[in-house]
Amino acid sequence: MAAATIYLDYNATTPVRPVAADAVARALCLVGNPSSVHGFGRQARRRIEDAREAVADWLGAPAAGVIFTSGGTEANALALAGCGRSRVLVSAIEHPSVLNAVLPGRRRELIPVDGDGVVDLSALEALLADSDEPALVALMLANNETGVVQPVAAAAAIAHAHGALLHCDAVQAAGKLAIDVAALGADSLSLSAHKLGGPQGVGVLVLADPDAPLEPLLGGGGQERRRRSGTENLPGIAGFAAALEAVRDEAPMAVRLRELRDRLEGAIKRVAPDVIVFGAQAPRLPNTSCLALPGMTAQTAVMALDLAGIAISAGSACSSGKVAPSHVLTAMGAGPLAASAIRVSLGWASVDADVERFVEAFGGLVRQRADPGVASAMTLAKGRR
Ligand SMILES: Cc1ncc(COP(=O)(O)O)c(C=O)c1O
Repeated sequence: MAAATIYLDYNATTPVRPVAADAVARALCLVGNPSSVHGFGRQARRRIEDAREAVADWLGAPAAGVIFTSGGTEANALALAGCGRSRVLVSAIEHPSVLNAVLPGRRRELIPVDGDGVVDLSALEALLADSDEPALVALMLANNETGVVQPVAAAAAIAHAHGALLHCDAVQAAGKLAIDVAALGADSLSLSAHKLGGPQGVGVLVLADPDAPLEPLLGGGGQERRRRSGTENLPGIAGFAAALEAVRDEAPMAVRLRELRDRLEGAIKRVAPDVIVFGAQAPRLPNTSCLALPGMTAQTAVMALDLAGIAISAGSACSSGKVAPSHVLTAMGAGPLAASAIRVSLGWASVDADVERFVEAFGGLVRQRADPGVASAMTLAKGRR
């Protein structure tokens, strides 16, 4: 398969920022286990503690509450399994790492969302009022498929009023929205470096209270204040910190991305007035557009766009390229339209020309829908430019 020329799949993973790649390369050349007491070890330890401070500072959280993990999936699993709560309430649109976290002997219940993909706070309140069992509520800050932003602070207030904890998966929001753990009222929050221009395979779980009880997932050497055993991924952590620095330096990026995304949506609606934009009435991440062209399956659209040199995802795909009905769109009541949903997501290296190329290729999809035989032949003939 030839490489796609235009990358519009930032919610799946972002291209690594050059400063992050540099930091990874430099850290790879360091010798020393961060737990060793000699000078090499101390140097490695200093790099990790600097990165911990950078993450904490960025999130307005205490450094001792920052636990480095292998990514967002592990951070979510640690939060849910380690919190010691017997009842876990998760919104119906959570990432599979939350929905499918392994929770032996715990009760898991779903909190519904409305047609715009926003969690139903009265349903949350009713679920919590239903039982005195100690609970954890998991609510993401922004959805990976639709970009819809959730009322986390309001949910945290409800959770706390019922003696529950709130975990927030902020993996997709990071780098696109400002995040302040205290303002959100989250007891724990997860991030992943590769969604904001850092390397894959590193993330954090952040605890608002660094001394909150947390049962580790792994037994071992007791690193990360006994909460996450295993030698720290120093190159990954250094790359993560460098990516955060870059995000901090580019505050206006969200404005530029929103402008690009809105231009894209405006243009495709002119080409196909029946196109549906999921979550359009709700607050959304500035970079994400989840669209359906009725009458064209997501699979066909993704393949045709790939042939035209544009990389996007089917609405549901965040893992192994699987094509399954999206649980997010299903929870929003999208029905059969969910099978047509594609996700376009922009990021730090996106430029105007990417949007223009997408809109042009989308025009090809619309023609293909009108006349499948002729248009697919055209798409094949054009191949990749
Ligand atoms: C919202 C959300 N949470 C968690 C994850 C998992 O993160 P990671 O790929 O670092 O395990 C993802 C990534 O796809 C995500 O989009």
